Amino acid sequence: MEKVAIYPGSFDPITNGHLDILERGLTLFDRVIVAILHNPKKDGLFSIEERRSLLEDALVDLPHTEIDTFGGLLVDYARQKGACAILRGMRAVSDFEYEFQMALMNRRLDRDIQTVFLMTGLRWIFTSSSIIKEAAQFGGNVQGMVPPLVDRALKDKYAALKDSV
Ligand code: PNS
Repeated sequence: MEKVAIYPGSFDPITNGHLDILERGLTLFDRVIVAILHNPKKDGLFSIEERRSLLEDALVDLPHTEIDTFGGLLVDYARQKGACAILRGMRAVSDFEYEFQMALMNRRLDRDIQTVFLMTGLRWIFTSSSIIKEAAQFGGNVQGMVPPLVDRALKDKYAALKDSV
C-alpha cells in the first residue's frame, strides 16, 4: 500500500531547511503532502496563496510531492488524506518541547498516525522562517538560506511594506 506522509507547517515562507526535510522524507514515503496551515486568526507575512505559489516553484523538480492547505486538526486532515505519518523536522534542542507536546497530543487524538522526526541537516540547524524574515526585513542577506524566488519575494514584500507606511 502507498505510504503517504503529511508535512505540515506555516511555510511563511518555505526555507532550504524545509526542503532538506522534505527531500529526505521522500526517501521514506511514497508521497509527501506539504500542507500549509490555514489559520484565519494568525496573519503571516505572506498570504496562503503566496506561500502556495512559492512552494509550487520550490517543489517543481520534486516528484511525489503535493501542496495543499488545511484548517482544523492535523490528524483529521491526515486521516482524510489516507496518510500514515506526520513528518516534522527537529532542529536544535529548543524545538524539542514544542514538537514533543504536539506529537503526544496528535498521538492521543489518533493512535494510527505516527509522527516521524528527521534531524535537520547541520547547515540548516539555525534556519527558521522567523529568523530569515527578521534578517530580510532589515536588508540582511538571506541568499542560500531560501530558494531564489523566496529571496526575491522577501525583498519585494518588505519593499512594498516600506512604501505603504
Ligand atoms: O510551521 P509550524 O508553525 O511550526 O507548524 C505548526 C503546525 C501547522 C504543524 C501546527 O500548528 C498544527 O498542526 N496545527 C493544526 C492544529 C493541530 O492539529 N494542532 C496539534 C494538536 S493540538
